[in-house]
Amino acid sequence: MHIAFVASECVPFSKTGGLADVVGALPRALAAAGHEVSVYIPHYRHTRISEERTVVQSITVPFDDRYRFCSILTGAGYPGVRFFFVDYPAFFDRDGLYGTASGDFPDNAERFALFGRAVLEASKVLGVPDVFHCHDWQAALVPVLLRTQYSEDPAFRDAGTVFTIHNMGYQGLFPPEILPLLMLPWDLFTIAKMEYFGNVNFLKGALVYSDMITTVSRKYSQEIQTTEFGFGLEGVLKDRAPNLAGILNGVDYDEWNPQTDKFIAAHYSAEDLSGKRECKQDLLASFGLGEADPNLPVIGVVSRFAAQKGFDLIGQIIDRLALEEVLITVLGSGDKLYEEMFLRLARRLPERVGVRVAYDNALAHKVEAGADMFLMPSRYEPSGLSQLYSLKYGTVPIVRATGGLDDTIDPWEARTKKGTGFKFQEYSGEALLRVIHQALQLYRDQESWQRLMRNGMSKDFSWRVSGREYVRVYERVRQQHAQAILV
Ligand code: ADP
Ligand code: GLC
Repeated sequence: MHIAFVASECVPFSKTGGLADVVGALPRALAAAGHEVSVYIPHYRHTRISEERTVVQSITVPFDDRYRFCSILTGAGYPGVRFFFVDYPAFFDRDGLYGTASGDFPDNAERFALFGRAVLEASKVLGVPDVFHCHDWQAALVPVLLRTQYSEDPAFRDAGTVFTIHNMGYQGLFPPEILPLLMLPWDLFTIAKMEYFGNVNFLKGALVYSDMITTVSRKYSQEIQTTEFGFGLEGVLKDRAPNLAGILNGVDYDEWNPQTDKFIAAHYSAEDLSGKRECKQDLLASFGLGEADPNLPVIGVVSRFAAQKGFDLIGQIIDRLALEEVLITVLGSGDKLYEEMFLRLARRLPERVGVRVAYDNALAHKVEAGADMFLMPSRYEPSGLSQLYSLKYGTVPIVRATGGLDDTIDPWEARTKKGTGFKFQEYSGEALLRVIHQALQLYRDQESWQRLMRNGMSKDFSWRVSGREYVRVYERVRQQHAQAILV
């Protein structure tokens, strides 16, 4: 089968979060299973392409005021995986992917509409896939266009669409005036299509028009059909429930493995944990805590700072957390509110708390390896990858029971010595503090603690299993198309 991925981020070319990890790794798993994959992503200022060349010199994308012309670049891929970059410097040659510190770029609708249209036109030259697998609102116009303006294009007669929701919190909302600028017909602006409380909603369009919808864990696929997690689109999702599947994200263990990781101070494994101590010391030194007692437990955080991630709970318990015998290392960036909260904590407890407001991949690996515990108190979490990395590094996750966190972390049970982490339900500082206390207490019993670490390290969340589930979804879409053509 030929599958074309359409997304706004992909490791190693561009990344702001887990979406990039998924788009970087899943194509390789599919290729290993014998499929052919093309990956379409924008060419940003920081994108580095080895063996770069232009494969399509000019794609015409109409806008209401004028035509715009972009090129398609390619470079070295993997066997079975080709990468295609949509090059339009006026839109993508910028520092950020989606905006600056002061907010989103004002022309995001135009940027990603151009991207979607360019992908469709480019695929006619480079090979129309059996399935377009589109991710998040930035790629949402592809299924919309295929079933509306392109519905009579013979090139796409057999092309199916799968849309993966990585996060309902980002929908691509724009004022209605955007439609004519993007050359989209007004009849899309109805409640059954892309209209959403007076705005145009890109994500909603994809949920309406895609053949199949997936999201990144089983639990989240259920949660998003409720008002608490559906962000206003729960009704649409309920309608589409027969075509909605939850498939957990996998881990690329070539990138995230304490036995081979090129960013960490020493390698280690479940059989020989000794290297982890060196990683811990290296981590503490990297966060200016080199003088701290390395026998104290370290809680690590690596995260985008957004309301989703639940750090307001830390704010609620900061005074009591400050009393605990624990070291804390935080790497993250985003919302100023949380950046300042953590920086204040570091100023207050300089011997015990290290905070780095940055996006730094090497340091993210050091935290995964060097910390003893990894904190993700998310308000909601579609899948979460960091907790899966933590498991492999023997860094025990402390998580809230939501979405993928709930699906992947089993609470430690002293009696059976089973479980992989600590989990709390209620969204409150009290509930969080209780599990932190449990974790700190168990840490004192190193024998049990090491058992807990090894339980996590032995888990396998590789892409092999989830990749097979995606193939089943692609096959279902292909069958639907074959049947539709027969009738
Ligand atoms: P989300 O996609 O919601 O941000 P995930 O847990 O799925 O959450 O994925 C987060 C990914 O982004 C992980 O690979 C994590 O290491 C990385 N990451 C997040 N924040 C940072 C940061 N400040 N520096 C480096 N990597 C980061
Ligand atoms: C989103 C979610 C995260 C998920 C990632 C990749 O950003 O917040 O939970 O792991 O996408 O699917």
